[in-house]
Amino acid sequence: MEVFRIQGGARLAGQVQITGAKNSSLKLMAAALLAPGKTVIHAVPNILDVTIMAELLRRLGCKVEYDEAKQAVSIEVPQTIEHRADYDLVRRMRASIAVLGPLVARTGEADVALPGGDAIGSRGLDMHTAGLERMGAVVTNEHGYLVVHAPTGGLVGTALYLDFPSVGATETLLMAGVTANGVTVIDNAAREPEIVDICNMLVAMGAAISGIGGSLLTVTGVDSLHAVEYTTVSDRIVAGTWAVAAAITQGDITVNNVNPSHLSIVLEKLATAGATVEVFENSFRVQMDRRPTAVDIVTLPYPGFPTDLQPQFIALNSIAEGSAMVTENLFEARFRFVQELTRLGAEVRTDGHHALIRGRSKLSGAPVEATDIRAGAGLVLAGLVADGETTVHAVEHIDRGYVNFEKELVELGATVVRETST
Ligand code: UD1
Repeated sequence: MEVFRIQGGARLAGQVQITGAKNSSLKLMAAALLAPGKTVIHAVPNILDVTIMAELLRRLGCKVEYDEAKQAVSIEVPQTIEHRADYDLVRRMRASIAVLGPLVARTGEADVALPGGDAIGSRGLDMHTAGLERMGAVVTNEHGYLVVHAPTGGLVGTALYLDFPSVGATETLLMAGVTANGVTVIDNAAREPEIVDICNMLVAMGAAISGIGGSLLTVTGVDSLHAVEYTTVSDRIVAGTWAVAAAITQGDITVNNVNPSHLSIVLEKLATAGATVEVFENSFRVQMDRRPTAVDIVTLPYPGFPTDLQPQFIALNSIAEGSAMVTENLFEARFRFVQELTRLGAEVRTDGHHALIRGRSKLSGAPVEATDIRAGAGLVLAGLVADGETTVHAVEHIDRGYVNFEKELVELGATVVRETST
């Protein structure tokens, strides 16, 4: 077990370079299954989840190589692939569910272990399975596995309406639809930049998708797809985390290689908190020269405020002037980390979907534990502005979303070391 030992008080200043989005790379790797041949995906971050997805693809019959220096993964997909995603991998990474759509599309069947509990909420799969059933598949739950059989002749395109614009369900149904018979319409689809990214890759592979970027996706089934070379969209959540780091430490950070329009609402909130935000074509700069003002946020599907930046904003509000209400609409258990934040002296009261934060002029360093990736990032940000030393335990969670986090923090002026905890 490793910890980050942080000495609070530094002002962060400098430049950071954003790489490919974890939440997109993993799905693009799964999408590679849709076409035999060698697909190469660039800007894939060097994180454990990528290693797990690579292992899953190998078990399905692919040859997978990750080139760390180039941040590229090459996936050789054979003509015939397996159709089982084992529990030992799915339980380690919920995003393994991304293979569900491609497996049914390619092989007509899928046995995918049910992911089970998750530190940030129940995260059902009902919209994934209801959509596949509407496309003619038979779905059963057997011994902890979701077992899916497409009809003879393959899935059949139809009109689908999602109860909620779920990222995962949109991805599953898109990948199921690209080679289905006829037209699949996904209404109330998710519109996240990562959805646009997978649509663009599928189109490059030969898929026919219209309405990309909107909430009505029309997928006209084609006979087959072909392997491609593709570059992952950059990680807006990592970029947003650096933006908050600038604001919370009264610093000055320029974030490069990012599409600022993916963070419009986030940058707007930082401006409301008192930051000076400059937006360029592929970068933005956040400067703060005073204590932030508290800002209310409400998490919503894109283009709303991203739930993956909610803990970072709670951290910001905890040292802000005034009080803020944060409403979490996506993952009910995401406030769990608040208990850890209160160990640093933050004044936060939660009630159901709401957290009321009364800004304190300072936090006080203490040992805390990361419960998931983004909670971990929120705790690190709080540690940067806490008096004295904060040790963040369970940094393996943070490592799943932030490559070389502590090295970049140090380059920007923070005092952080990674240590093995005793
Ligand atoms: C993805 C991201 C995650 C992000 C989230 C929302 C990955 C690996 N993870 O998660 O970081 O926070 O999008 O932007 O890309 N739901 C159901 N039934 C379903 C599907 C979803 O009830 O069939 C519920 C979930 O329990 C959750 C909500 O819908 O409460 C959002 O889920 P979804 O948008 O699917 O998020 P993920 O794809 O799991």
